[in-house]
Amino acid sequence: MDFQWYPGHMTKAKRAMQEDIKLVDLVIELLDARAPGSSRNPDIDTLGKGKARLILLNKADMADEKANRAWEKELSRTGALTVGMDARSGDGKKKVQEAILKACAEKIERNRKRGILNRPVRAMVAGIPNVGKSTFINTMAGRASAKTGNKPGVTRGNQWIRLNKQVELLDTPGILWPKFEDPEVGLHLALLGSIREEILNAAELAAELIRFLKANAPDRLSERYGILPEAEEIRVLTQIAEARNCRLKGNEPDLERAALLLLNDFRSGRLGRITLELPERSPDYL
Ligand code: G4P
Repeated sequence: MDFQWYPGHMTKAKRAMQEDIKLVDLVIELLDARAPGSSRNPDIDTLGKGKARLILLNKADMADEKANRAWEKELSRTGALTVGMDARSGDGKKKVQEAILKACAEKIERNRKRGILNRPVRAMVAGIPNVGKSTFINTMAGRASAKTGNKPGVTRGNQWIRLNKQVELLDTPGILWPKFEDPEVGLHLALLGSIREEILNAAELAAELIRFLKANAPDRLSERYGILPEAEEIRVLTQIAEARNCRLKGNEPDLERAALLLLNDFRSGRLGRITLELPERSPDYL
């Protein structure tokens, strides 16, 4: 299955980010905890050069807890502080606030030595589409947020959201484009829903998910659909179609509908907490 896809607005998004990044001290990089390696765009290392860095494993609520811990450890090894988060519920918000200050400790200390005591550190959020950037900004801003208005040098009507006395967040996130030269990365991103549905073949994608589940968590399929997932992938998909009464005219099983149903169940967490990939070195996981 080929997932190559070159969106036309990619260059524009990158340019906007290059401009915005000049305004901040800290880049908060959001990854999808269900596939942290695949949802990471290495361009961020160049774009965020010289800036403090914080990695958030977002959607941690939908990923396997043990895998979350393994990824936190692995990514911390790269030198970036790494914290798990559920941006939708706000779980992990306090830890994130602490991590922001920790990541910017040097900058705060430098300011203090220069006698600058009340200048907040400024941060921007970056990540691939659908990773939860807007949700994160809204959650962090909360009801107490105060927009501080346009400031010179801020383009496109960007606003600063004051999280507290010490931190301001740029309200426009930086969009990074997923890199998927590696077909496995493309597959993971497609399963997470980060690639537009209409360019994909749902049944083929669902068959890949079934292959993964059969190898790693077969009980999820039997629990949810009451089937025995031992057959080959397309047969399992047919069983799901039958179990959920997805039928075409003439009573044929509707594999397309069953595929979309399965993919939706996975993406919304109805198949339980699942992580698609582990760090290469994951001795702590096993
Ligand atoms: P983006 O700005 O990076 O493109 O992502 P956005 O915030 O729009 O989030 C994409 C989807 O992911 C949204 O769901 C959002 O609710 C969900 N989401 C974000 N963070 C988390 C998280 O930590 N945990 C879980 N479980 N979900 C999260 P949606 O279905 O598109 O919208 P909605 O129905 O939730 O409004």
